Amino acid sequence: MNELKGRKLVLGVTGGVAAYKAAELTRLLVKAGVEVHVVLTEAGARFVTPVTFQALSGRTVWTDLWDGRMGNNMAHIDLTRGADGILIAPASADMMAKLVHGLADDLLSTLCLARDCPLMVAPAMNRQMWENPATRRNLAQLQADGVAVLGPAEGDQACGETGPGRMLEPEDLLEALIACFQPKLMAGRKVVLTAGPTFEAIDPVRGITNSSSGKMGYALARAFARAGAEVVLVSGPVALPAPAGVRRIDVLSALQMREAVLAEVADAEVFVGVAAVADYRPAQAAEHKIKTSGDAMQLTLAPNPDILAEVAALPKPPFCVGFAAESRDLDAYAEGKRRAKRLPLLVGNLVQDALGGDDNEVVLYDDNGRYPLGRASKAELAKRIVDHLAALLADGELREE
Ligand code: C5P
Repeated sequence: MNELKGRKLVLGVTGGVAAYKAAELTRLLVKAGVEVHVVLTEAGARFVTPVTFQALSGRTVWTDLWDGRMGNNMAHIDLTRGADGILIAPASADMMAKLVHGLADDLLSTLCLARDCPLMVAPAMNRQMWENPATRRNLAQLQADGVAVLGPAEGDQACGETGPGRMLEPEDLLEALIACFQPKLMAGRKVVLTAGPTFEAIDPVRGITNSSSGKMGYALARAFARAGAEVVLVSGPVALPAPAGVRRIDVLSALQMREAVLAEVADAEVFVGVAAVADYRPAQAAEHKIKTSGDAMQLTLAPNPDILAEVAALPKPPFCVGFAAESRDLDAYAEGKRRAKRLPLLVGNLVQDALGGDDNEVVLYDDNGRYPLGRASKAELAKRIVDHLAALLADGELREE
């Protein structure tokens, strides 16, 4: 299950070097289960031919307003019938201007004018074209008209310049598209999460850590961002890229994690502790690399602060969510932990299932009871957790009114 599966999308490709990225985007969309109908402008077809898009989408590609292949000769109406959206990627400065003025002199612009579905554009152009006052005006007008503008990014441009105007990469566009179709259940709320393991130094090159992959925390951060939250992810050392739209703060030790969390939670509405924080750290990290002597060695460990319990005990705590990984008696241990740390919500899982894998099976515990979420991918579980939490927040606010 994903947000895009089974959706019908018109992908408009206008004239720009970034049209080559639209080919990869088509492949990703098809892989995600989207029915993709590609419409090329005349200029778009000069950069990448319809053959490429036809092969990748597995469907007829449309370029001409006067194409007679559709039975009623109304491609400009039929292509968006029942469509979930039109995405124009790349959207040239010229296409943005046309959309603003309601011009309809080719198939793509006519489809946009005649649509009854959301329109999303991914601008791609030279830095100066992007910064031109005419484009700035057009951008503001498109946003005022309810068009979702995805990107652009900054970076190297085909013209040899560097700056804003690069089209988002296909993976980022896919992510942005998923977010467009997602209800914004967490809009206006700041969420701080911890994820991954911590690393507790023994000396400059050695340390104590654990095998947490960070996958669940990262999936959750992504799900919150998709639901419209402002997300800060305080992450221990993991080999995962920051999800789109998430502000990531890298830390190593539990003490650094605590410091970063406390600096961020004051104005947060939600705090989720997903990290596998080391319970102990070496009482004293050696300044220099410890030499091997062959003798037995003793390491004195000091307890680490419990970050989650500390946040939950703040005078005005955010809504705190904990994770409990147990190897047995999940219900009893999880509910005990929830009460001990005074958490309104706890996510429990049996540890042998979870570490490092892409799937998991979790149970939610809150003041009203126990909610098994079943077995699913971590991405899907993250979405279900966010849905549950958003409902609890909305419920709490209703009762306060
Ligand atoms: O007590 P236990 O370590 O099982 O609790 C797990 C929960 O507490 C997780 O949400 C974890 O992120 C959080 N935790 C923490 N700081 C610690 C230990 C655990 O925030 N030192």
